[in-house]
Amino acid sequence: NHYVAIMAGGVGSRFWPMSKSSFPKQFLDILNTGSTLIQATFERFVSFIPEENIFVVTSQEYVSIVQDQLPLLPAQNIIAEPERKNTAACIAYISFKLNKINPDANLIVAPSDHLIGDLDLFTESCLKALEFTSQHQALVTLGIKPTHANTGYGYIQYENSQGEVHPVIRFTEKPHRELASKFLSEGNYLWNSGIFIWKVSDILDSFETYASQIFQIFLDIISFLNTPHESQAIAYAYENISPISIDYAVMEKAKNVFIIPVDFSWNDLGTWNSAWENFQKDGAQNASNNQNTILVDSKGCMVHSNEKKVVVIGGLEDMIVVNTPEALLICKKENEQQIKEYVARVKEIT
Ligand code: GDD
Ligand code: MG
Repeated sequence: NHYVAIMAGGVGSRFWPMSKSSFPKQFLDILNTGSTLIQATFERFVSFIPEENIFVVTSQEYVSIVQDQLPLLPAQNIIAEPERKNTAACIAYISFKLNKINPDANLIVAPSDHLIGDLDLFTESCLKALEFTSQHQALVTLGIKPTHANTGYGYIQYENSQGEVHPVIRFTEKPHRELASKFLSEGNYLWNSGIFIWKVSDILDSFETYASQIFQIFLDIISFLNTPHESQAIAYAYENISPISIDYAVMEKAKNVFIIPVDFSWNDLGTWNSAWENFQKDGAQNASNNQNTILVDSKGCMVHSNEKKVVVIGGLEDMIVVNTPEALLICKKENEQQIKEYVARVKEIT
């Protein structure tokens, strides 16, 4: 009864210009590891879940990229969304579908943009969670020890109960900086890894309670799911869905949320700073993917350039420099969350 849904429909706009909406970051090997982020995600799961039970939910326009990059994934397990409506819609869609295939389905929902260190620990944590959700009506997330007041994550306050699965007191998605710092100093908070585990029937119950509009839209077309009329029905349904993430739509509201603190190394490769953290750095804390980068009298910089040689002379500090054939980005590291906004303005080259 174990299933996985990999969410791979995001555009990774904070990783522009390497990540662009026609070819987003989950399909790139940003850190030169030899596999793309989605390939690494699939590899992690296929070691303990059979490939016929692994699904990838993505935009229609990325279906062929997924097929190319994951040749072992059965073609019918690529679920195409007609529009990008964020993660609540994506999760509702796969859950309604799976519920018709197997009403006892016990599901892991995972992002496709993470770096995860220790495979054995990862597998162990997932299996522990599946065991728990098979016995409880629980929405479980894997929790990461926070290291700094990052405003891009969900913060989870939990009760330090006995055992390895703890009840969640409060889930706060993407708090502002002051609130994130306050949470950090209070101590009993973990970051939401974005990896969720639950029985499909339980997440559907939660949609019914907390996101009833989305629930109703899918309920209306349920008879077409897993039939030749599915894509037409889904196109109709998606037109009426308001975009919202699962974190805001369900996780902040649900009462039966539990967390398993995990020890494997975890990184949401969400921004250029997170890439910088993962690259090898020189004595002055500069990182580059390219051996032809020369940085003189500069420190703390992230330089990424695939083809062109880059030379920086003098005084560049804590800057991001990213060069691709189509675009050049120069940005202060502390301003990287704004990349998203500006990318919207240069739409014609994304
Ligand atoms: N299929 C599909 N459709 N996938 C999507 C969509 C969509 O419309 N939107 C986003 N995704 C995918 C992304 O590709 C990514 O793999 C995953 O869903 C999560 O989306 P992000 O946009 O990367 O979310 P986030 O990083 O801002 O926040 C989430 O993850 C954090 C940890 O990485 C939240 O769950 C946070 O609470 C969490 O801390
Ligand atoms: Mg992310």
